[in-house]
Amino acid sequence: MSFRLLSLLCLVIAASYGDALSIEPRSSHYVKLPVVHSTNRRVFAKVYENKRDVATVPLAKRADVAYYAKLNIGTPPQPVYVQIDTGSFELWVNPNCTSLQGTTDVRFCRAIGHYEPSSSSSAVELTTTKTLRYGIGQAAIQYVIDNVGLAGTDALLENIQFGVALDTVDEFSGILGIGHGVNVTIPYKNMIDQLADQGATDTKAFSLALGSKSEQEGVIIFGGLDTSKFTGTLRTQPIIEGPDGVPRYWIQMESLGITPPDSQTKQYSNTSMAVFLDSGATLTLLPTSLANEIAADFGAEATNPNGFYAVDCKFNNQSGTLSFAFDGVTIRVPYREIVREIQTAFGTQCYLGISPSEDFALLGDTMLRSAYAVFDQTNNAIHLAQYSNCGSTEKEITAQMDLGKITGNCEAPDFEDADASSNPMPPGKGSGTGSNESGDAESRASTWKTAGFRKWFTIWVMIYAIDFTFGLIL
Ligand SMILES: *[C@@H]1O[C@H](CO)[C@@H](O)[C@H](O)[C@H]1NC(C)=O
Ligand SMILES: *[C@@H]1O[C@H](CO)[C@@H](O)[C@H](O)[C@H]1NC(C)=O
Ligand SMILES: *[C@@H]1O[C@H](CO)[C@@H](O)[C@H](O)[C@H]1NC(C)=O
Ligand SMILES: *[C@@H]1O[C@H](CO)[C@@H](O)[C@H](O)[C@H]1NC(C)=O
Ligand SMILES: *[C@@H]1O[C@H](CO)[C@@H](O)[C@H](O)[C@H]1NC(C)=O
Repeated sequence: MSFRLLSLLCLVIAASYGDALSIEPRSSHYVKLPVVHSTNRRVFAKVYENKRDVATVPLAKRADVAYYAKLNIGTPPQPVYVQIDTGSFELWVNPNCTSLQGTTDVRFCRAIGHYEPSSSSSAVELTTTKTLRYGIGQAAIQYVIDNVGLAGTDALLENIQFGVALDTVDEFSGILGIGHGVNVTIPYKNMIDQLADQGATDTKAFSLALGSKSEQEGVIIFGGLDTSKFTGTLRTQPIIEGPDGVPRYWIQMESLGITPPDSQTKQYSNTSMAVFLDSGATLTLLPTSLANEIAADFGAEATNPNGFYAVDCKFNNQSGTLSFAFDGVTIRVPYREIVREIQTAFGTQCYLGISPSEDFALLGDTMLRSAYAVFDQTNNAIHLAQYSNCGSTEKEITAQMDLGKITGNCEAPDFEDADASSNPMPPGKGSGTGSNESGDAESRASTWKTAGFRKWFTIWVMIYAIDFTFGLIL
């Protein structure tokens, strides 16, 4: 389950499937997706061709922004973008966009690609169906087995089971659930299981750096990590059983505090609790009394009817931080990352990226952007560090590796500087993930490919973030 209330709209782009080969044993077993955030709307041109439509999408119950990975499904390959979601377990895609309500949803669905089993010679349609329920929205699916290529790489996973949507509610794109899979949450192998099973990765682990809001890129590496995307030493947090009994990426948070600009840190009371990490959720959800207390420190007295705290946009320009403390590591989240800026017909409005919830305490994109996290099912742990970007130094994750001892190459961000914290590299300059502001996504991906990275069994993917929302929150 995930809570994609309002999120980043990103795309993972990659090079053509034409070069896809079957996976063979390699010296390095990892699959990298350089993630490029951008306000570049090229990829979503079809979504945004009519500004007025865009401005009238009701946002209250859906994602404004999310992170998408591009898959090439079937034979011949049908390219489909799916949302990367650490909070769910299964992959599903839209077959066509006919069952969606509203023209913008349909346009979005068409722009991001869809998959029709009847057009794939390798598809095997199963008779089983299921309804997947998310924090918001649901999808009724029918299972299919087909080949899935990881766009921009030579990785072709064979006989992957996934869902094809029959009907959806409040979901307008497919979802790539990368939580626990076979015999833990579902009776078949999900993508994480299959990546390990088919030799693309050594262990069931992947690292995620969403990157800061203002930055142009982030990175996800299945079976690997990038020591130039964090500062300090990764600290191992055991995955614990969550209050909902569902095996998710639950870990224990020890405390939560706030450090206003030029002030002492204040710890909130009663903040030791289980939280889960959910990339499919834009917002961070905390117990109501705690969320209210934090909101009050941002000058917000109560939530609006949609459950959002409206705050002054000045916080985006201040150097304060929220500190999420775990065993051995504290993730500092700059105000700029926790405050969401929404362009509306009435001008810019800002909201706290935290909402109250009595059901779940979860850390969504508004917190995760400031963290570097290795999700490690093999060792049943999350290895956490402060995100920082100082280039790219990739390593394969092997079964023998002690991830809790790996130190990042980056300097600690300067949290006193409202502009520089957690974003030490100017966008497009040098972070080895290959940002090139002037090139489009597809051409960048192929440039990297021909640069010889393919032999590392690497996928190059870019994520395009649409850093503004396309609707009103009223
Ligand atoms: C769209 O997909 C649904 C579900 O698979 C199917 O019933 C319907 O016929 C499809 N519509 C078109 C126009 O292909
Ligand atoms: C999952 O459980 C089934 C039934 O107990 C077993 O046959 C299968 O080997 C298990 N699969 C994995 C990957 O553990
Ligand atoms: C601490 O928080 C939990 C919910 O997170 C709540 O049930 C409990 O009553 C709180 N305790 C105190 C002393 O405030
Ligand atoms: C924040 O800073 C930017 C540029 O420094 C400025 O244009 C903007 O007006 C400031 N916003 C607020 C609310 O102070
Ligand atoms: C960026 O991409 C453009 C167009 O693909 C290319 O002409 C330019 O040389 C690239 N710049 C760098 C620094 O790679």
